[in-house]
Amino acid sequence: MSGVSFSNLTKLYDKGTVAVDHVTFEVADKEFFVLVGPSGCGKSTTLRLVAGLEEPTSGEIYIGDRIVNNVEPRDRDIAMVFQNYALYPHMSVRENMAFALKLRKLPKDEIRTRVEEAARILGITELLQRKPAALSGGQRQRVAVGRAIVRHPKVFLFDEPLSNLDAKLRVGMRTELARIHRQLETTVFYVTHDQVEAMTLGQRIGVMKDGKLLQIADSMTLYNQPVNRFVAGFIGSPPMNFLSGRIEDKTPLRFSHNSFSLDLSPAMAAGLAPARGKPVTLGVRPEGITLALETVPARGPSPKPELKMGVEVVEQMGNETVLYLKAGEDTLVARVPPQNAPRPGDSVTVGFAPDHLHFFDAETELTLA
Ligand SMILES: Nc1ncnc2c1ncn2[C@@H]1O[C@H](COP(=O)(O)OP(=O)(O)OP(=O)(O)O)[C@@H](O)[C@H]1O
Ligand SMILES: [Mg+2]
Repeated sequence: MSGVSFSNLTKLYDKGTVAVDHVTFEVADKEFFVLVGPSGCGKSTTLRLVAGLEEPTSGEIYIGDRIVNNVEPRDRDIAMVFQNYALYPHMSVRENMAFALKLRKLPKDEIRTRVEEAARILGITELLQRKPAALSGGQRQRVAVGRAIVRHPKVFLFDEPLSNLDAKLRVGMRTELARIHRQLETTVFYVTHDQVEAMTLGQRIGVMKDGKLLQIADSMTLYNQPVNRFVAGFIGSPPMNFLSGRIEDKTPLRFSHNSFSLDLSPAMAAGLAPARGKPVTLGVRPEGITLALETVPARGPSPKPELKMGVEVVEQMGNETVLYLKAGEDTLVARVPPQNAPRPGDSVTVGFAPDHLHFFDAETELTLA
């Protein structure tokens, strides 16, 4: 059983940078776990701590149930694939993959078996005699993964292994990695700044910011129930829209913005009760915005003020259209079906799908509802 767990792990660098700040969590045995966050948030440092390339300032790291703080990197039973994986240019693919095993003085037959098995899993058997210079980017990436696979580690550590590849190859390698993980049944601890990669690969995803782990959940939970405004804005593309306003101290509960207001469902009332009379941030994802080209007459008993916005930019994606809308200080990104999409310069009336609303405390940025 080899998961990885962290107990109150902290890493301070010399100049006082808190790269990892009291992090406690567990990567389960055989899980594909992804740590995601913006540049500089401490992802690589966390991974390097597991690998033993950095020493923790405080806290413990376990691989399986063994505490590894004082275990040498080579005895940790891990294999790491970096973004800048360097293959030895003068060695063939077979020699590159066999190299670490030779250093460990494994028997020749065993080395051959392991290399050929990894090559088969990765679909690079026919490339074994080639030198790296004669490989495409994706093929080189596979060899780098192959070097890790042959070691039969308890845990794979991946640090942005796909970021050197072009967009199409990256998508291809993503499905490859998911397949390899299923086939090897090994724990994978993967870090990336790319939220799409995180969402598609991770069985669970941890979102990190400024050295702190903000939320750990599966992709749907992160998307639908972010714990705070940062996670809400980081996960999803185009990102969630935010509008400032306040919760009116009235019943039924109502969100009011400078130029419109929204009646809130009783389902939201519990979370929003403490925010009565206070400033909040409304969050709505691009697909939660509805549009009417002309002003539609308000339904229901009281006419609602409406948010009228100008269409600034229209991006035709083929399957959908992304609109950039503006009114005064407010900007919104909407995702609409490609049929009958507005054009730049059009004026639209914006509505919000009631089941797509998120609210955040304006001060703490924590999710209220
Ligand atoms: N060797 C070092 N000495 C001092 N500070 C460091 C060192 N390595 C990293 N840092 C700092 O620690 C913080 C976390 O760095 P880390 O490399 O873990 O970030 P990251 O999340 O991997 O970012 P990226 O997405 O850019 O790779 C950053 O502020 C970085 O500048
Ligand atoms: Mg990094």
